[in-house]
Amino acid sequence: MRVLVTGGAGFIGSAVCRQLVSEAGATVVNIDKLTYAANLASLASIDGTSCYRFEQHDICDQEAVNSLFARWEPSAVIHLAAESHVDRSITGSATFIGTNIVGTYTLLEAARRYYDGLPHPRRKQFRFIHVSTDEVYGSLDSLDSFGRFREDTAYRPSSPYSASKAASDHLALAWYKTYGLPVIVSNCSNNYGPFQFPEKLIPLTILNAMEYKPLPVYGDGSNVRDWLYVEDHAAGLIKLLFEGRPGEKYNFGGDSERSNLEVVNQICDVLDRLCPGSARRRSLIAFVPDRPGHDARYAIDASKAHRELGWQPTRSFEQGLADTVDWYFARGASWLAWARNGVYDGARLGLLATQH
Ligand SMILES: NC(=O)c1ccc[n+]([C@@H]2O[C@H](COP(=O)([O-])OP(=O)(O)OC[C@H]3O[C@@H](n4cnc5c(N)ncnc54)[C@H](O)[C@@H]3O)[C@@H](O)[C@H]2O)c1
Repeated sequence: MRVLVTGGAGFIGSAVCRQLVSEAGATVVNIDKLTYAANLASLASIDGTSCYRFEQHDICDQEAVNSLFARWEPSAVIHLAAESHVDRSITGSATFIGTNIVGTYTLLEAARRYYDGLPHPRRKQFRFIHVSTDEVYGSLDSLDSFGRFREDTAYRPSSPYSASKAASDHLALAWYKTYGLPVIVSNCSNNYGPFQFPEKLIPLTILNAMEYKPLPVYGDGSNVRDWLYVEDHAAGLIKLLFEGRPGEKYNFGGDSERSNLEVVNQICDVLDRLCPGSARRRSLIAFVPDRPGHDARYAIDASKAHRELGWQPTRSFEQGLADTVDWYFARGASWLAWARNGVYDGARLGLLATQH
């Protein structure tokens, strides 16, 4: 099986590439533009093997994407390339519209042309997995504080990021309904784990706490997310290739709802045990102005993935977070050097002019 993975140099995409090559025995062609969020070091364990190829391209480039399908003749696509940080979408939405909407459209069109030309047995096998987020469903506070997102929950996106992902989900499913392209959409909750760019809550907090820097918490820290270890998400996406039904949506979540403040407190406690200092790290917590349009709560009902794919998360949040802290702790200095290499200095992103 040859899988064309987009965004494979990113956080989740690299986990997908590693698992496809090392565990699923697939060949991977990774198409990535290498934006600020990409890190080729995350692919070191498979780079140089005969089962892995890298192609630096923009998924918005129709000609390049068409020729990649013609050259590599994939049996499946796992599409992860995206602009992925909500805060950046608030102050710079154009690239989100470009990559997440136009890029997905470009890829769907190339896949459709390629699929239409495939002989019957290969058409039967072909899959296009469109990787999306639970953020498309909006905030649960406006629906039911005990409810969870199901695959048939209506879309109510709040941020430019989630609106652009919602648009891409609609395009992907329209390409199934109208053109018969065997698309499957996944909507996953917040991921955490190794190799995540440190603008996101968990790596940012770990790295700041390691250096005894302030730990910014948005608003009062009560916003709730459902956390899933990245390797568990990657395993679910690979299961979709074999067990998922075209035209369907599948939710993935860790059944691990935590408020942002709980997450930050837990990171502080793990690091205090690992590397005790003069003061408890919880004292570094600094409440900062809330994110505009910040959704209060996300929670996933993943029972369809459990039932139809036989998928389950393998790590508890406590175990996964301890492993993640260990990972960043072991690589702290080099990881920071990469992340701050003129690209990101750890500063607050996504504030409106009126909030400064
Ligand atoms: N991180 C999460 O918690 C989470 C949760 C659910 C779903 N998702 C979705 O999973 C996917 C991957 O998320 P991530 O956290 O790994 O993102 P990321 O920001 O870490 O990586 C994105 C990758 O896409 C590449 N990319 C960006 N624009 C591109 C373009 N125009 N052409 C080609 N490559 C491009 C980047 O270089 C990068 O390697 C996204 O579609 C995201 O919406 C993320």
